[in-house]
Amino acid sequence: MLSSSVARVWRRSICDAVLRGSARRGAPVAPARAASTASASGAGTEAAAARKKVPPPPRKGRLLTGAMIGLVIAGGAYVSTADEAKFCGWLFKSTELVNPLFALLDAEYAHRLAVKAAAHGFVPREKRPDPPVLGLEVWGRKFANPIGLAAGFDKNAEAVEGLLGMGFGFVEVGSVTPLPQEGNPKPRIFRLREHSAVINRCGFNSEGIVVVAKRLGAQHGKRKMEETSTSTSTSSSDVKQGGKAGPGILGVNLGKNKTSEDAAADYVQGVHNLSQYADYLVINISSPNTPGLRKLQGRKQLKDLVKKIQAARDEMQWAEDGPPPLLVKIAPDLSKQDLEDIAAVALALRLDGLIISNTTVSRPPPADAHPSAQETGGLSGKPLFDLSTNILREMYLLTRGKIPLIGCGGVSSGEDAYKKIRSGATLVQLYTAFAYGGPALIPRIKVITHIYYIYQT
Ligand SMILES: Cc1cc2nc3c(=O)[nH]c(=O)nc-3n(C[C@H](O)[C@H](O)[C@H](O)COP(=O)(O)O)c2cc1C
Repeated sequence: MLSSSVARVWRRSICDAVLRGSARRGAPVAPARAASTASASGAGTEAAAARKKVPPPPRKGRLLTGAMIGLVIAGGAYVSTADEAKFCGWLFKSTELVNPLFALLDAEYAHRLAVKAAAHGFVPREKRPDPPVLGLEVWGRKFANPIGLAAGFDKNAEAVEGLLGMGFGFVEVGSVTPLPQEGNPKPRIFRLREHSAVINRCGFNSEGIVVVAKRLGAQHGKRKMEETSTSTSTSSSDVKQGGKAGPGILGVNLGKNKTSEDAAADYVQGVHNLSQYADYLVINISSPNTPGLRKLQGRKQLKDLVKKIQAARDEMQWAEDGPPPLLVKIAPDLSKQDLEDIAAVALALRLDGLIISNTTVSRPPPADAHPSAQETGGLSGKPLFDLSTNILREMYLLTRGKIPLIGCGGVSSGEDAYKKIRSGATLVQLYTAFAYGGPALIPRIKVITHIYYIYQT
């Protein structure tokens, strides 16, 4: 969509330039015509004087106009002949121009605008295939690359296609709560720009499972059709990229309502209503902004919760590819004992994966010195990287590499992504760096991750 509008703008500017040029060339004609009318009325000498007064276009101006037209035509011709990959690269790069404008807006307003842009296709679409070495298969699903968008960006599944189209290997929507809820009062998202960090206390603002299920249901049908059309056009290849609902992998992250007394019942409702659209499901028990939520990470509570949710999922009717894998998202603020307990439950109940981690209630330096560091909420972005990567490494050892882990927290470059992978992550997610860097960040991270794969494995 963006590419066609850019092409339109190019076309229009070429036409404008050409029209301007011809108008200049035609400029002396009008006075000449006026002169001939004048001579017909018998004022020949006046007309001749008038003709003399019209100055010929200066040579410099003519040269400049010619050069401009030439440049525009040459540029247009180059764009039309440049290969798609190059053009795609430009489009991604050009999105960096709007980052400073977004930075001027209130953080939550900018976020809403970004989601709307992605929902309506006003974002670049990645046309360049990922290098095969970045591809991997997890839970029987094929990921084109290991870089995903973390939960919280598209809380209500408004922009799945646009976000997947930008080149993420997977996108996680949510957290979705059973009933719609407003979340905490605004402002509730604070930028710590100097540290590439954010503090948020959104408190699960969600449109609720009914609205999200409806949205995903509509997209599911569309994605299925896309899958059918691509599979017929690429019948030579048996390898089908993406998840069961179409190209790209979709995770659905479930939350609980703030006032709900029965957390397990909330998650079960989420499973019943949303799991049919998900390539994987996440139980989020680590947001710091819902009172009491993180207590569910305790050994007994977690065991009871996971058992109930697994049972609810397995009781549903599933096609032969089976139910979606179930993951738990944990906090980075856990003690060694907490981690051991979670690892024990994960292994005993054969949990399909863990996401490590959510935001932190701590304020790692240098972010602790920022004026907004006093704001209540979870901190994300660069200062979270070490903390979440250490927990990831620890959990990889505790689970003896038997459970796929998604490394999340402070990833802002290909090098960071690779470090997460080297610390035990099978897949990597990011949010805050994307909020600051925009679409241009995605290909950049993938390219550098690719280089690390080639030279350091
Ligand atoms: C504004 C904001 C809202 C978030 N909302 C959610 C959420 O609803 N559910 C969830 O599991 N994580 C949520 N997160 C946490 C992110 O998914 C991620 O775990 C965390 O930000 C660390 O990654 P990052 O440093 O790359 O941002 C949110 C993060 C931010 C910044």
